[in-house]
Amino acid sequence: MLLSRILGIFILCSLTTATKISSRRNVTIDDQFGDELTQVVPRYMPPDRWNKGGMNLPPAVLARPNASLAHRKTWHDSTHLVGGPTATVNFGFTGVSIYVYCIVVNMPPGPSFNTFANYKFSIDGNIVGEYTHEAQHAPDYLYGTPVYANTTLQNAYHNFSIIIDSTKRSVLILFDYAVYTMM
Ligand SMILES: *[C@@H]1O[C@H](CO)[C@@H](O)[C@H](O)[C@H]1NC(C)=O
Ligand SMILES: *[C@@H]1O[C@H](CO)[C@@H](O)[C@H](O)[C@H]1NC(C)=O
Ligand SMILES: *[C@@H]1O[C@H](CO)[C@@H](O)[C@H](O)[C@H]1NC(C)=O
Ligand SMILES: *[C@@H]1O[C@H](CO)[C@@H](O)[C@H](O)[C@H]1NC(C)=O
Repeated sequence: MLLSRILGIFILCSLTTATKISSRRNVTIDDQFGDELTQVVPRYMPPDRWNKGGMNLPPAVLARPNASLAHRKTWHDSTHLVGGPTATVNFGFTGVSIYVYCIVVNMPPGPSFNTFANYKFSIDGNIVGEYTHEAQHAPDYLYGTPVYANTTLQNAYHNFSIIIDSTKRSVLILFDYAVYTMM
């Protein structure tokens, strides 16, 4: 009798926990195909400083990652030169977490080029983080590299930007995709 009651409470608690977890859902924002639910594509500024990268696109920059290893075989790349305009990727989402993934470049064979990574991240107008990577010898490309994660957001609409504005060194970015968690 007591045992079955305890068991009942236990099952009820487990169910409640399960419902809480399953009510969270991850949604992917691809650099080219956009938000999987709304199809809204991120904004790239200034537009003429960004190139689409992918399977059937001629490489616009010296970075030539294996498109098969990019999310949905696509990315957007930009090289920010010191003194050049600030480059941004901007999108909105409603959720409690955000994860951002890039393809980070080391020193692929061929002519050498600048691959320094230095990205800032802003949420609702405030800088909340920064990612930096100095080129290493191997591997040539680091696919699906998490460059920013925030799991403590209020469940509300957020205006998110990646900002590339280094005043000291040129910066390369290959933005692949982002994931947000909605409730
Ligand atoms: C969402 O994705 C992140 C990063 O991969 C993962 O840690 C988290 O558990 C996922 N959440 C859900 C609800 O799938
Ligand atoms: C690209 O990656 C795919 C999937 O892993 C692999 O089959 C293919 O051989 C790679 N291509 C090159 C040129 O490395
Ligand atoms: C997450 O975002 C909140 C709200 O913008 C901010 O206060 C916090 O510092 C961020 N956390 C991380 C790990 O970036
Ligand atoms: C998000 O922020 C960007 C950059 O500050 C701004 O241009 C844009 O209008 C904002 N979007 C929304 C929906 O508030």
